[in-house]
Amino acid sequence: MNSPFSLASSTILITGASSGIGRACAVACSEAGARIIALGRDEERLHQTLKLLDNKKKHISYSVELTDFNQVDRMMESFEAEGIKINGIINSAGISTTLPLRAFNPEKIQTFVDVNVTAAIYLCKWITRKKMLPESGSSIVFLSSVMGSVGESGKFIYSLTKGALLAASRSLAVELASKKVRVNCISPGVVETPMTDSAVYSRNEEARGKIEALHPLGLGKPEDVAHAAVYLLSDASAWVTGTNLFVDGGYTAR
Ligand SMILES: NC(=O)c1ccc[n+]([C@@H]2O[C@H](COP(=O)([O-])OP(=O)(O)OC[C@H]3O[C@@H](n4cnc5c(N)ncnc54)[C@H](OP(=O)(O)O)[C@@H]3O)[C@@H](O)[C@H]2O)c1
Repeated sequence: MNSPFSLASSTILITGASSGIGRACAVACSEAGARIIALGRDEERLHQTLKLLDNKKKHISYSVELTDFNQVDRMMESFEAEGIKINGIINSAGISTTLPLRAFNPEKIQTFVDVNVTAAIYLCKWITRKKMLPESGSSIVFLSSVMGSVGESGKFIYSLTKGALLAASRSLAVELASKKVRVNCISPGVVETPMTDSAVYSRNEEARGKIEALHPLGLGKPEDVAHAAVYLLSDASAWVTGTNLFVDGGYTAR
């Protein structure tokens, strides 16, 4: 019997697949039966991701700087030329920073908007073109963050990029519904990945303890987020669009 959570016969494009949540999404989607197109910059770590996938031979990886739109165009043109249709995308590539207002300057903000927002939306434009869109439609998942909905000292730049995804996804959900394209966000709390390993609080036990205490279920694992992504890509969420799914161990319930 076909499970509504199955991704069999689907091709799923995943950015940030060389690390953390993106890598876990690649593993979970392949376990659900999908063919994965894994994007990242670090080729070695992308290959490590491919080694973790079920049915290794059917997947592909592609090293790309997502803010270089010429590079992205060449990559997507090559997929289009191969006749690849995209049933779903997980936009997991992202960067974070902790920066107080006094350290703000206009150039600093641009990089974060470029990677976290513009690059993700640019790819969505590509996959919703007629040639790449399957008749059955597609599902777009953005990795927002609890920081898109609630505040934290020093997080205003990261927060504004994640809030932008929440706002944009609602309008895109309305705009793309007639094409059978669903658009949703996942907002994780703190998940243990290389991104959080490099965060300031990870270098200080007391600070880390405080972050853990904000999550009634403890810190998250990349798989916790990946399973939510599989749901949003699959037919199990066929009537779900324009939503934001908190996967945060209770962070925003407090
Ligand atoms: N970890 C958390 O606690 C947490 C919480 C809430 C939301 N999120 C969001 O979840 C997503 C994944 O986070 P993560 O913790 O898995 O991060 P991560 O381990 O640091 O991985 C980030 C990924 O993004 C890719 N990337 C970054 N800049 C890129 C660029 N310019 N072009 C192409 N790829 C780029 C990296 O590729 P390379 O390494 O190959 O360069 C890497 O694969 C992010 O959007 C993050 O904001 C994370």
